[in-house]
Amino acid sequence: MKIAVPKEIAEGERRVTLIPESVSRLGEGFEVLVQAGAGEAAFFPDSAYAEVGATIVADAASLYAQTDAILKVRAPSLDELKLMPAGAILAGFLEPLTNPQLARALAAAKLTSFAMEAVPRISRAQKMDALSSQTNIAGYKAAIMAADALPKFFPMLMTAAGTLVPAKTLILGAGVAGLQAIATCRRLGAVVFAFDIRPAVKEEVESLGAKFIDVGLEEGAADAGGYATEVTEESAERNRRVIHERAKESDVIISTALIPGRPAPLLVTADAVKDMKPGSVIVDLAGETGGNCELTEPGATVVKHGITIIGPLNLPSEVAMHASQMYSRNIMSLFTHVVGDVSEGEGTPRFDFDDEITAGSCITRDGEIVSERVRALVEGENPRLR
Ligand code: NAI
Repeated sequence: MKIAVPKEIAEGERRVTLIPESVSRLGEGFEVLVQAGAGEAAFFPDSAYAEVGATIVADAASLYAQTDAILKVRAPSLDELKLMPAGAILAGFLEPLTNPQLARALAAAKLTSFAMEAVPRISRAQKMDALSSQTNIAGYKAAIMAADALPKFFPMLMTAAGTLVPAKTLILGAGVAGLQAIATCRRLGAVVFAFDIRPAVKEEVESLGAKFIDVGLEEGAADAGGYATEVTEESAERNRRVIHERAKESDVIISTALIPGRPAPLLVTADAVKDMKPGSVIVDLAGETGGNCELTEPGATVVKHGITIIGPLNLPSEVAMHASQMYSRNIMSLFTHVVGDVSEGEGTPRFDFDDEITAGSCITRDGEIVSERVRALVEGENPRLR
């Protein structure tokens, strides 16, 4: 089976789907074709792929023309799709619940497609969980960016020129990104406070050395799967007031609050920003879904009322080497799982659509959208993510 690793074309994207190490680990029955320069921005040169037996192909058109399976980081453009042969397998971040036009196009192109976002969150599939691996990186990088932008030290310093107090950081949302942001801020020596509407995270937050802000968490802030659910407007208002008070004391706010499938909850109002100390920094990871801060401009860094507000959109790409390494492990695990043993039968995939992971992550096959949630979206409903 021929696997294609294209060069990502999304603007600013530096990650590559497979790193040479993953190529070298592929078992019998696979052959890897890599588009020239695919790994360059993540510092994996063509020569490293060639050394482990991959074939370097000059351009996307010739790459796709001779492939059985295409592994990507970002969703393909409609122009890229036109180059992909009908019947091929496609795996990557395919935006299944936010891009209905793409889902329709994948079906029309007769691709058997698997979305990394749709991999079920079960322990058997943990090694395939690219959302978590990439978000982890975003949490780390957000803390580093905050430290870089803050006109102060993070750690306490006792010097001949006096004692400097440590920075106070406030992390909003203690999921994957938030917990990594907490850990990174702690490693840099800051004092860390964290807030989340799920009571279950208090212990995790404290185990990382941060203080949990308890606002008297209500029942129902998490669903049966442990995911956050929307809180009432009354408690959202109360939370914003608590955050406003905390913001006045904070040098840094890193916001990562997310409710799957919903616009980002508003946690930091314009008034709260106005009341922060000049020079303070906000890094808002939720820009893509509207932002947790009222003044965030997604994709930009702005200074408002003396506060630097950073709204980065693709932080994993900024840590391209490790992001690619982790993504590569995730997608290889998913891909080899769904195609099964191809060492016999001339590389023919052995899909098992009764398997929870294979069925759960499959978006289209045989010209149809097979994911019920995606079909509902395409038909105009509004399903929950994951
Ligand atoms: P997650 O689902 O693991 O964690 C989100 C947390 O927010 C949960 O613990 C949830 O309980 C909490 N939360 C929800 N509503 C809240 C509220 N009103 N107040 C306080 N906490 C609340 O999500 P994950 O994977 O950590 O992602 C976090 C955010 O980072 C998402 O918005 C995601 O899109 C974004 N992200 C941004 C990237 C970038 O480069 N800008 C890259 C990767 C992720």
